[in-house]
Amino acid sequence: MYKSIIRRILFQYDPEEVHHFTFSTIKTLMKIPLVPSITKSIFKVSSPSLEKEVFGLKFKNPVGLAAGFDKNAVLFDEFSNYGFGFVEIGTVTPKGQPGNPKKRLFRLKEDEAVINRMGFNNEGVDAVVERLKHRKTDVIIGGNIGKNKVTPNENAIDDYMICFEKLFDYVDYFVVNVSSPNTPNLRALQDKEPLTKLLQTLQQKNLTKQGPKPILLKIAPDLTDSQLLDIIDIVNTTKIAGVIATNTTISRDGLQSDNKSETGGLSGKPVKNRSTEVIRFLAEKSGKSFPIVGVGGIHSAADAQEKIEAGADLVQLYTGFIYEGPALVKRINKSLR
Ligand code: FNR
Repeated sequence: MYKSIIRRILFQYDPEEVHHFTFSTIKTLMKIPLVPSITKSIFKVSSPSLEKEVFGLKFKNPVGLAAGFDKNAVLFDEFSNYGFGFVEIGTVTPKGQPGNPKKRLFRLKEDEAVINRMGFNNEGVDAVVERLKHRKTDVIIGGNIGKNKVTPNENAIDDYMICFEKLFDYVDYFVVNVSSPNTPNLRALQDKEPLTKLLQTLQQKNLTKQGPKPILLKIAPDLTDSQLLDIIDIVNTTKIAGVIATNTTISRDGLQSDNKSETGGLSGKPVKNRSTEVIRFLAEKSGKSFPIVGVGGIHSAADAQEKIEAGADLVQLYTGFIYEGPALVKRINKSLR
């Protein structure tokens, strides 16, 4: 029903408009008595065989909503009704910022893909914290953090630290996002020296806390093998909890759609294989010394299985959720069970 009716209608309209429309519709519907429990009964798959402990957190199932969907922590409670085992909010920056000029989100229908150049549009960490204070769900929440566009890379650590401190009491794990292609120069922070310094500083702060929280690093699929070897080194030396592989790609290989030349990060089916390769490389070369969250082009249960076989402990969806609808979460969990 999603693909034949709902998607057909939604795909007639501008993708960003559809995103906002869907958000307000879900928010309104979930306020109607019984709707949350009916939604849960349709989409949620519960089974002890799906439960998993990763980086010290107990996940009810290994399928999460990837960052960028609920940037402002508006709908994480509602999304938990769709059967996700975890929801990652953000990317959040210290100050709110509008992101890039519209139009900045494009569907590549023939490729079952999306190109986005949103540019970390978000309301800022204070607004997000206010919402998280009213959290109802017991689903695990990750806080994906970044820097403001106006902050030069030399001062990036300050931005990550502000978000880390302010979100600390309200999220279960952190993701350091240095891999978005849409904030100028951000990806230079993936280089060995600045990245080691950034993660070391955050981890040192983390270890002064009563209960430190897992810190993960989210990387681009466009890193070379030698950069990936550096990443393994950095994770092992800074002793952060793990890696999320991968963010969107700047590659445009093998695309069919007319609008394939839009600037931005490409996600969905075309990024699937590269993202799996990165996961496999990290798992093999590190001797599986840290957990990996696999994301990129998961549009079916088989795609999720492939990521897990390559070395992912958990998986996340974004573009597949748009193309396949919420039943994808259930299909993956049923098949994993
Ligand atoms: C993203 N993604 C993303 N990632 C991130 O760490 N912070 C962010 O703010 C965003 N924003 C964002 C917006 C849009 C419109 C898309 C499509 C994607 C990347 C996302 O979390 C994921 O890593 C990639 O999209 C690859 O997974 P999929 O989409 O192929 O399942």
